Amino acid sequence: MKIFVTRKVPGDLEPLKKENEVVISEFDRPLTPEELIEKAKGVDAVLSLLTDKIDGEVTDAIGPQLKVISNYAVGFDNINITEATDRGIVVTNTSCEEVDEAVAEHTWALISALTRRVVEADEATRRGAYRGWEPDIFLGTSLIGKTLGIVGFGGIGTMVARRAEGYNMNVIYTKRTKDEKSVDLDTLLANSDVVTIHVPLNDETRHMFNKETFAKMKKGSFLINTARGPIVDEHDLVDALRSGHLQGAALDVFDNEPNIDPELIGMPNVITTPHIASATHEAREAMTKLAVSGILDVFASHEPVNIVNKEVWTKRRE
Ligand code: GLV
Ligand code: GLV
Repeated sequence: MKIFVTRKVPGDLEPLKKENEVVISEFDRPLTPEELIEKAKGVDAVLSLLTDKIDGEVTDAIGPQLKVISNYAVGFDNINITEATDRGIVVTNTSCEEVDEAVAEHTWALISALTRRVVEADEATRRGAYRGWEPDIFLGTSLIGKTLGIVGFGGIGTMVARRAEGYNMNVIYTKRTKDEKSVDLDTLLANSDVVTIHVPLNDETRHMFNKETFAKMKKGSFLINTARGPIVDEHDLVDALRSGHLQGAALDVFDNEPNIDPELIGMPNVITTPHIASATHEAREAMTKLAVSGILDVFASHEPVNIVNKEVWTKRRE
């Protein structure tokens, strides 16, 4: 079988090569749709990244032999799942405990850095502004006893909540399948000192955080986004920060990556990281293992653990 890997990834791809012909993109950058089609034409499997947009048109151009798209990410909003399913193409992702933990850890790194102004203070120190201890510089916000609002209580949201216990915070959350402890979004927004987003990007969540949402948040609260950029309307976020209604924001993802609203990036109460929430050695290794087994399982007619479109299995392309 033939496999195309759209970009070199960390970890061990050797198992893929044992019985298959594997081509890895020679470019250390995302491919254009045309390049992707050209390279992937005729392959049985594509190992794709979240920067690859793959819809029915792309899969048709790759050809009717394409059986599986193994997406090297937890999120799969870059793939048109309906169109893949219609064509009998299996889609897998790399959701696993290691990635969930890594994203939860980064979320907490951002919550701590934002509420204790670590980046701002570091920047001032490096520029020589530290003149000795002062009683009133870089006052932050204590987390103990405050409320953390987790929007989306899946694998990652749950692990973010677990870590909140150590900070002695109250945790509230929204959940797609409601349970006795979940709250609705308006209740969460009105009561949270820190709101952190852990939902997937889809039609319901696109710009879910906009002017109206920000107005419902507590004055002086903080927003963290390690999920997907387009869930937050960046322009409305700038307004909410400028007016002081929100005290700060920490973002790992952006509306139009890799571009960031210049005003946002110039604000001292905003922390930006370049989409690295899952970037640990441990998580990447686990992701590579899963991305590889997703493809090999489909080739061996075993339903992959991380299949995203389960309904395709009985009508998949052979
Ligand atoms: C990263 O953003 C992922 O979805 O894994
Ligand atoms: C701070 O360094 C203190 O000792 O209070």
